[in-house]
Amino acid sequence: MTINRSWLLARRPQGRVSIEDFAYREEPFVTPTLADGEVLVRNHCFSCAPTIRNWLNPPERSYRTSIGIGQPIAGMAGAEIMASRHPRFSAGDYVTAVSPWQDYAVLAPDRAAVPVVPVPAGLTLADALGPYSPNSLTAYFGMIDVGRAKIGETVLISAAAGSVGTVACQIARIQGCRVVAIAGGPIKCAWLRDVAGVDATIDYKAGDLPAQLAESCPTHVNLFFDNVGGEILQAAVDAMALHGRIVLCGQISSYDTGKPAPGPRDMMRLVYGRILMQGFVVGDFAARYDEAYAALRQWIKRGDLICRTDLREGFDRLPEAFVDLFRGNNEGTLLVSATSGLPDQTRTDSSSEQGR
Ligand SMILES: NC(=O)c1ccc[n+]([C@@H]2O[C@H](COP(=O)([O-])OP(=O)(O)OC[C@H]3O[C@@H](n4cnc5c(N)ncnc54)[C@H](OP(=O)(O)O)[C@@H]3O)[C@@H](O)[C@H]2O)c1
Repeated sequence: MTINRSWLLARRPQGRVSIEDFAYREEPFVTPTLADGEVLVRNHCFSCAPTIRNWLNPPERSYRTSIGIGQPIAGMAGAEIMASRHPRFSAGDYVTAVSPWQDYAVLAPDRAAVPVVPVPAGLTLADALGPYSPNSLTAYFGMIDVGRAKIGETVLISAAAGSVGTVACQIARIQGCRVVAIAGGPIKCAWLRDVAGVDATIDYKAGDLPAQLAESCPTHVNLFFDNVGGEILQAAVDAMALHGRIVLCGQISSYDTGKPAPGPRDMMRLVYGRILMQGFVVGDFAARYDEAYAALRQWIKRGDLICRTDLREGFDRLPEAFVDLFRGNNEGTLLVSATSGLPDQTRTDSSSEQGR
């Protein structure tokens, strides 16, 4: 008998998310009857993204969707199509999609808020969820379009050792910027300097962030790419150069607090600094994804861009891995495979660090 395993929302997290907020369920898998436009997928790999934490909030505190108590957690996954009644997908295709945290699920691609995308020829599922994932696209459009990073500028990036951050740092470096990366702990900072090639790092856990910023950014910050918000955003606002830009990519420091993300303490700093602050969502750039894929492919091929994947094995480890995002226990893109190992289709050397 085939079993369909699921991770469900057991209760809404009160502040910090914990593994007790999730419930495990096993059910016999009965092949469903598909309606027109539906596909049956087998999820092989799940991407742990901080924004899923926002979806665990009640509807009035969730930005896009709110997962109901007892419902499966959902997130970006790499899946194999097992059966299809959709004209664009066939059994045996591999796709990325927002899918429930289950072995098997029925998806309706035409009704999906996030497109169901075929894994391009030559790429593995781990590639599609790692170097060519929406997180890399986020770094690309956030840095190039929203931030308009220019040669010679000082660019500061928070959560720099994470999935979006590692790519954002390297894109800024490729644009000829002086890159200053903020991350938690000496090991992450060493990777950013030695492998990602940033010019300076700030370990925000080592204390006195304003002093570290002043030392690392003597001519102030032209562009701040913020994944974190809170105290880090505040310190960066205080360190901005005249006419600086702040790209609001995410605010992870507040996701787990039960409170809305705070703004800077003194808006007059933005007035007198002529600072531009802009939020964005990667889906805004969907029509230009091919441009970003082409650039990423070229940089990876040339060895200019190293994408880092933190692959954990085993469906049972999903909640624990997700919680790790909020403890800083991931290095790069955090993926969890459904079984011990990924199917052969996804086995290539690109599932770990891609060499320079
Ligand atoms: N706008 C968009 O379209 C878009 C798309 C994708 C992602 N995002 C956002 O981008 C950000 C990064 O996402 P990601 O998937 O790349 O995650 P990630 O950076 O790979 O993982 C999260 C990291 O954030 C840091 N962190 C966690 N809690 C923190 C806290 N309280 N204070 C400071 N740092 C904290 C930790 O690194 P340290 O060890 O360094 O603390 C952790 O490793 C998130 O805010 C996410 O919501 C936005």
